[in-house]
Amino acid sequence: MQILAFPDYCAQAERLACRLGAPFGLIELHRFPDGESLVRLPSMLLDHVIVCRSLDRPNDKLVELMLFARTARELGAKRVTLVAPYLCYMRQDIANRPGEAVSQRIVGQWLAELFDDVLTVDPHLHRISHLQQAIPLANAVCLSAAGAIGDFLGKRFDDAILLGPDIESEQWVSGIAAQIGFDYAVADKIRRGDREVEITLPDKVFKDKPVVIIDDMASTGRTLARTIGLLQNAGASTVYAAITHPLFCGDAEAHIRAAGVKEIWSTDSIEHPTSCIWLDSLLSDAVRSIL
Ligand code: R5P
Repeated sequence: MQILAFPDYCAQAERLACRLGAPFGLIELHRFPDGESLVRLPSMLLDHVIVCRSLDRPNDKLVELMLFARTARELGAKRVTLVAPYLCYMRQDIANRPGEAVSQRIVGQWLAELFDDVLTVDPHLHRISHLQQAIPLANAVCLSAAGAIGDFLGKRFDDAILLGPDIESEQWVSGIAAQIGFDYAVADKIRRGDREVEITLPDKVFKDKPVVIIDDMASTGRTLARTIGLLQNAGASTVYAAITHPLFCGDAEAHIRAAGVKEIWSTDSIEHPTSCIWLDSLLSDAVRSIL
């Protein structure tokens, strides 16, 4: 097998190749003035080709992945695997209004047609419990960064309260708390719009305690910023944030920092200055498990 990477995701793909002891190659990408993409693969491919690329800011990337996968098959690859630590379009799982595209199903089906295997990390699945329901492939593999985040926090803190900002985050925050023996709680969130959230803290004493907010992603940053503000009001000694997917759209990071967070840590699922928790070990174990 060989690992191939697009130029925007080289470092993580190279770390994966290194862990697997697999050859690493670069996919060349040229963007024409009109926005079209030219994708060029190495002309000699091994039987099993693994492309590693996260699908944040996804629209161009999805077209490029299609060009890649079809070309890989034309060049003789017998098995084509996608490792996408961040998987896009998983949030829209129903038509909220008549006529809306259910992107989770459509994009999932499309990826299943292009790839033999799809591996991802903590996809945002809301109303379904298995990734195979979105991506109809036997090898649609859903991993979790919770263990890596737990290892990271366990080395930094003797004790802290872990806080999930909403009920969806309970799965990660409770797992990490059990892993490192910390206390945890979960807040209540109502989303009023893309950039508007209402958070209610759980009934717990935060005064003079360090608190780490754990979430799967920061998009507009409003969830984190609002939670940080409430924890400051509740007297927490310091507030940190550990997140899996640092999407950080627009002014998100500035907003979170202005709210008074002491440090933000994220995984390298998406390249960002806060990315310090690497997923290469998790991903390489998962690749080995599907061989
Ligand atoms: C929602 O359920 C997720 O777990 C995140 O809390 C959410 O996507 C964060 O979004 P934002 O940063 O836009 O508040």
